[in-house]
Amino acid sequence: MARFKEDFIFGTATSSYQIEGASNQGGRSLSIWDTFAKTPGNVWNGDHGDVACDHYNRYKEDVQIIKELGVDSYRFSIAWPRIFPEEGVYNEEGMDFYRSLVKELRAAGIQPKATLYHWDLPMWAYEKGGWVNRESVDWFLEFAEACFTQLDADVESWITHNEPWCASFLSYHEGHHAPGHQNIEEGLKAAHHILLSHGKAVQLLKNKLGSTTPVGITLNLAPAYAESSSANDQIAMNNADGYTNRWFLDPIFKGSYPVDMMNLFSKYVHDFNFIQEGDLDTISVACDFFGINYYSRAFVKYAGNENFLFTSAHSTYKKTGMGWDVSPQEFKELIYRLREEYTDLPIYITENGAAYDDVLEVDGSVHDDERVAYVEHHLQAVYDLNEEGMNIAGYFLWSLLDNFEWAFGYDKRFGIIYVDFETQKRYWKDSAKRYKEIVQARSLLK
Ligand code: NOJ
Repeated sequence: MARFKEDFIFGTATSSYQIEGASNQGGRSLSIWDTFAKTPGNVWNGDHGDVACDHYNRYKEDVQIIKELGVDSYRFSIAWPRIFPEEGVYNEEGMDFYRSLVKELRAAGIQPKATLYHWDLPMWAYEKGGWVNRESVDWFLEFAEACFTQLDADVESWITHNEPWCASFLSYHEGHHAPGHQNIEEGLKAAHHILLSHGKAVQLLKNKLGSTTPVGITLNLAPAYAESSSANDQIAMNNADGYTNRWFLDPIFKGSYPVDMMNLFSKYVHDFNFIQEGDLDTISVACDFFGINYYSRAFVKYAGNENFLFTSAHSTYKKTGMGWDVSPQEFKELIYRLREEYTDLPIYITENGAAYDDVLEVDGSVHDDERVAYVEHHLQAVYDLNEEGMNIAGYFLWSLLDNFEWAFGYDKRFGIIYVDFETQKRYWKDSAKRYKEIVQARSLLK
C-alpha cells in the first residue's frame, strides 16, 4: 500500500459537553444536557458532564497530546451556553476560552475545525421551545455570527451542525437524548429548523461576512441492510434509510424531502406547515465540503407494530462495545452511493471510531487491539476509496479522549487516550500509538 496523499488531512475529534466539564466556570449557563443528565434514569449511572475530562482547565495539556500525535487537524465544538448564557447576552469570557484554544492549536501547527452545534442547547432556548420553535433559527444565527466574527481568522473550517438526526429524531422523537421528548411531530420540526439554521448560517458566513473559510455540515449516516429479501424486510430497509439518511441528505443536496417518507410521516403529523416557502432553497445552499460520521451499518427487519415499520435485526457481524456491527465494506458502499446520488463535494469523515472495554494495566498501558483493527480497517477503506477517485479529503478519529458518551455516561470509552476520571490522568492506548505511526508514515504499512 502506498501513502495517503500529502494533502490528506488526518485528525481527531471531540465535542464541548463531552470533554470540557467546568460547567459553572467562565459564565457558562446550563444546557439541556446538564438538566437531562441530572434527571434520574436518563444516563447510565447518573453520570453527567460537570467535570468530564476537565478539558476547559487542561486544554493546554490536551493540545500537547494532539501535537504529539502528529495529526494535521483537530475538530472540537463550541458550547453555546458559554457564548450566550442568557438570551441576547453575549459572554466574552466564554469566547475567550475558544480564542485561547484555537491560538494554542495554531501555535502547535494544528488546524482548528470548529463545530457550532454539538447538542448543548442552552436551557433558556429550550424553555422557549428549543428547536421545535422556529425562532431557534434566529437564536442560532446570533450564536453563529458571534463565533464567526470572533474566530474565523484562526479557524480552518466550520461545521454548522453535528448529526442533525441525533439532535432532532433521537432527542425529540425517540427521547434517548436531551431533551428526552417522544413526539414525532416535534422531531420533524426540530430537524427542519436545524437544517434551516444550517442553510442560514452558511449564507451569513459567506454573504454577510464575506468569509472564504470552508463551511459544511456533518451527518451521521448508517446505510441500511435488510435481514432478508422478503418484501416486508425491503420496506423496513427503505424506511430505515429514509428515516436516518434520506430525510437529511435529500433536503441538503436535492432541495426536497423524500416523498415516500412524507407519506409515512403524514399519518402522525397534522400538517407540514412548518416547512415554509423558500426554506428548502436555503437548506440546499452550496457548501464547500460534506462531513460524515460513520460508525456502523444498520441491519433491520420488518416490524409492523413500530412507528415506521422497521427495527434492528440480529446480525452475525463482529460488534464494537456499543453492540454496533463493524462494517467497513458497507462504509465503502455508502460512499459510492453518495457519489452517485448526492454530491461531488470533498468528503471529510468527521468521526469514525469505536468503544471497547479497555483495561488500564498497572504500567499505564492499554492494549486495545480491537480498536486498532477497527481504525485500520476503516482507514484502509478510505485509502481504497481515494484510489478509486472518491475524494475523501480527511479522516477524524473519534475520539481523542475517553469522554461523556451521552446516555451511556462514562461507561463507554471511545478515546485513543485513556482518561482516569478520578485523577484526570491521560494514558496513551495502543491505538493512539498506532495512529501516530500511521499519521507519521501517512500509510498503514508497518
Ligand atoms: C457521534 C457523536 O457525534 C458523538 O458525540 C458520539 O460520542 C459518537 N457518535 C459515538 O457515539
